[in-house]
Amino acid sequence: MKKGRYLVTGGAGFIGSHLVDRLLLEDPARLVVVDNFDDFYSPQIKRGNIASHLSHPSYHLVEADIRDYNKLKQLFSEEVIETVIHLAAKAGVRPSVSDPRTYQEVNVGGTLNVLDLAQRNGIKKVVFGSSSSIYGPTATPPFREDAPLNPISPYAATKAAGELLAHTYSHLYDMQIVCLRFFTVYGPRQRPDLAIHKFARLIASHSPVPVYGDGSSERDFTYIDDIIQGIMASIAYEATPFEVINLGESRTITVNRLIEQLEAALGEKAIIDRQPSQPGDMPRTHADISKARRLLGYKPTTAVEDGIKKFVDWMK
Ligand SMILES: NC(=O)c1ccc[n+]([C@@H]2O[C@H](COP(=O)([O-])OP(=O)(O)OC[C@H]3O[C@@H](n4cnc5c(N)ncnc54)[C@H](O)[C@@H]3O)[C@@H](O)[C@H]2O)c1
Repeated sequence: MKKGRYLVTGGAGFIGSHLVDRLLLEDPARLVVVDNFDDFYSPQIKRGNIASHLSHPSYHLVEADIRDYNKLKQLFSEEVIETVIHLAAKAGVRPSVSDPRTYQEVNVGGTLNVLDLAQRNGIKKVVFGSSSSIYGPTATPPFREDAPLNPISPYAATKAAGELLAHTYSHLYDMQIVCLRFFTVYGPRQRPDLAIHKFARLIASHSPVPVYGDGSSERDFTYIDDIIQGIMASIAYEATPFEVINLGESRTITVNRLIEQLEAALGEKAIIDRQPSQPGDMPRTHADISKARRLLGYKPTTAVEDGIKKFVDWMK
């Protein structure tokens, strides 16, 4: 039997591939990635994300869909896994409104498969990638983990369901599970559908930038290195059996201000195309990160002004 340690689902994606970079660097134990190179955005981008991983002797890629229980079961029987970092998902709020069923199948059904097989194979540690979107529009900023959840998109509802399943598995099977609520993550390799990447691309190509609503909506943008810092600390965390923890930057910026900063970094003027607000969109996200600081020693170090410059350098 082969030796194994970490299983990263969604390890070809934006956050997953950065996590794999870090794991291979800091803990070059055997590492298994499951990803189906979903076409939510170009699978070629994901191939590019993992290009440098493929030659690493510890790295093993399994191209599989987390909905495929039997394929996952085979993987778990062939590999010795100690820790699962579950990031595979249908991401994106807006597309989930028109395709709720697929989101449910991947994000709820697939998550159940991962938890169930982790449990059956005696794996005690799972880190789950959840989302700030589950707070919904009514939470009082900055959002605390104990705020009531009011998801307003199918995507958000599936992430809330994933957290509930994680709680159930932790309770029933004595598994140590950390659910991390990521607040809009950006940086090199950022998903092309997300603000910052999308806006920067449109501004650079002198194309109209669709701004939904009046641009006053606020986001807490978190630089990828800070998110990876929080995930690594969650892997090491073991003081309590189940935790839900925000990972944000803890400051917000309006969409209008974001565009101004991108204009400055790119040296280009944006052509704004005002559009009505989109169903499912949150008016603001804002993380209270005191729990992450306390439990994980989490300390975000990249303010959005600096992160935007780094992103633009990467994009150029
Ligand atoms: N990027 C953000 O701002 C953000 C915010 C909150 C939560 N999250 C969550 O973090 C995780 C990673 O997000 P990301 O931005 O890196 O997205 P991403 O789309 O770049 O990565 C997700 C990966 O999962 C894979 N995947 C999708 N469906 C799959 C399936 N059925 N089987 C196997 N693999 C599958 C995709 O191919 C992709 O490589 C997701 O769970 C997402 O919901 C991200």
